Amino acid sequence: MRKRDFVSITDIDRDEFYEILRIAREIKADLKQGRHSPLLEKKTLAMIFMKPSLRTRCAFELGMYQLGGMATYLAPSDIGLGKRESPYDVAKNLERWFDLIMARVFQHQTVLELARFANVPVINALCDTEHPCQITADFLTVMERRGDLKNFALTYIGDGNNVCNSLILLSAILGTHIRVSSPEGYEPSSVILERAKTLFDKSGGSYLFFRDPSEAVKKTEAIYTDVWASMGQEQEAEKRKKIFEPYQVNSALISHAPQKVMIMHDLPAHRGEEITDEVLDSQNSIAFDQAENRLHAQKGVLVFLQQNYRK
Ligand code: CP
Ligand code: NVA
Repeated sequence: MRKRDFVSITDIDRDEFYEILRIAREIKADLKQGRHSPLLEKKTLAMIFMKPSLRTRCAFELGMYQLGGMATYLAPSDIGLGKRESPYDVAKNLERWFDLIMARVFQHQTVLELARFANVPVINALCDTEHPCQITADFLTVMERRGDLKNFALTYIGDGNNVCNSLILLSAILGTHIRVSSPEGYEPSSVILERAKTLFDKSGGSYLFFRDPSEAVKKTEAIYTDVWASMGQEQEAEKRKKIFEPYQVNSALISHAPQKVMIMHDLPAHRGEEITDEVLDSQNSIAFDQAENRLHAQKGVLVFLQQNYRK
């Protein structure tokens, strides 16, 4: 029996993704009735954070408590992953105390190493390349809105970053039709698109790129955006503001989209940059539902990893 990890969204297949959503929805329904689901009784989660967080930390910490377990928060300054101690040594320590590990890191390689060395499941809680927990919550939110995910059409506007990469890969797994619009030099990486290609061929989904954001939003059910400078890119923020200005999700851009288009954002939002108040606070916005669903979706991931081992 081999443990499972959730380092990339491609670590799971389509049926497994639906299973995670099923668990999440069941646990969410229980919570709405005032019941906690003690599916991880006495289990423990180590939470490594090399970057700040509101949603991810709250959702994992609260999630473990509500599932009957507990979580330990390790701040960026606590363990000095890769500096004070190597990923190997950190993994070899944590596996002795904890049943699960989650890590928010810079390089994808770091979370891959933790997963390789730890004999307990490792969850990627955001790295520079992917954010699989976020998009699990996002697709749970979309499923609640439209009933299913069949032929879902999504448009991502902005930086071809970690969130965008994960949205492309999950779209490829599920058969979603995704459109992306980014300024020159900030398109999704060719490595991700290459990985997605075979999955798109299998699932029947599609990827289309548009330089002009108003073209990209014309035929879509949801418009998704994210910050222009991600954590770790703060020194580029000013330069990026000018480059990304035509990609702001504002009323003018939305006027090209279908009237009922859902507005999505993983948060934190830089209001007045990638998205205006008017759009983020509009009736079409489901950003805070996405944030709420981080709790339920991550519980789904935790329970799934505890229950599923590879032979
Ligand atoms: N969306 C998200 O991951 O939020 P945090 O950075 O606050 O965890
Ligand atoms: N792309 C953003 C997502 C934050 C949740 C970042 O990496 O900072």
